[in-house]
Amino acid sequence: MDVVACPSSPLLAKRMAERLKLKMAEVEFKRFPDGELYTRIKSDEKEHVVVCSLNSNEDLTLLTLSMEALKGKIYAVVPYMGYARQDKVFLEGEAVSIRAVARLLESYAEKIMTVNIHSADAASHFKKLKNLDAMPLLGNYYREKDIVMLSPDKGSVERVKVAAEVAGCEWDYLEKKRVDAYTVEVFPKEISVEGKKVVIVDDIISTGGTVIEASKRLKNLGAAEIEVSCVHAVLASFAAARILSSGISDIVATDTVEKIFSKITVADLLASALKDL
Ligand code: R5P
Repeated sequence: MDVVACPSSPLLAKRMAERLKLKMAEVEFKRFPDGELYTRIKSDEKEHVVVCSLNSNEDLTLLTLSMEALKGKIYAVVPYMGYARQDKVFLEGEAVSIRAVARLLESYAEKIMTVNIHSADAASHFKKLKNLDAMPLLGNYYREKDIVMLSPDKGSVERVKVAAEVAGCEWDYLEKKRVDAYTVEVFPKEISVEGKKVVIVDDIISTGGTVIEASKRLKNLGAAEIEVSCVHAVLASFAAARILSSGISDIVATDTVEKIFSKITVADLLASALKDL
């Protein structure tokens, strides 16, 4: 068995190979003048772990070509499962994108592993998926630190609870409250943030809009410092610059999407799940 690193996940692939004591397959990726992509993988192994986050359309093409190039059993590790937010038909005529991705990946892979897929609906389109939870790793990063954790909305509250229980800190979520007939404001449901360091925890930070809005409100409520933490630092469209110039002090993320903010690795989580197979 060997490990194939796609261009979106080279460091995580290497970390997994080290933990699993597997060699890395030799890979070649290139782009033709017309924009088409090319993949070649040199491997004599009969089983392969292909590591590829889907953070762009190109990643999906390269993952498909990598699996096409390989012979034998394929375990597809997709640390960040892109396209998962389009997990149902919201408007008549729409494609359920994640269902198309599931069909494609499952036509090649024996098993697919991912980390904190966006929703149970997204996961339901797969038959061979193992969805792992990195929230305890986020919690572990903040263990014994003097913070409170906040979910930006009620929908993410269960995730934040898991992280906060490992960190050993207070947690809460932001709730919309009607102040008067014309104003709706956001408040932490139970706790006070005054004078405290708050960590806003989410599964994905994409444009940063959600955490920037939440942090503005928390500053008005007297929070001393605000940091944001997530599993998937998608950070689309200059989001990192917007977040760090909005008064948020830091971004802490895992390496499901490899960024300078990837201070926590999911390599052990994925490697031990692969060992269990
Ligand atoms: C929403 O369901 C997710 O948990 C995130 O809150 C959302 O994807 C963040 O997106 P953005 O950074 O673009 O506000």
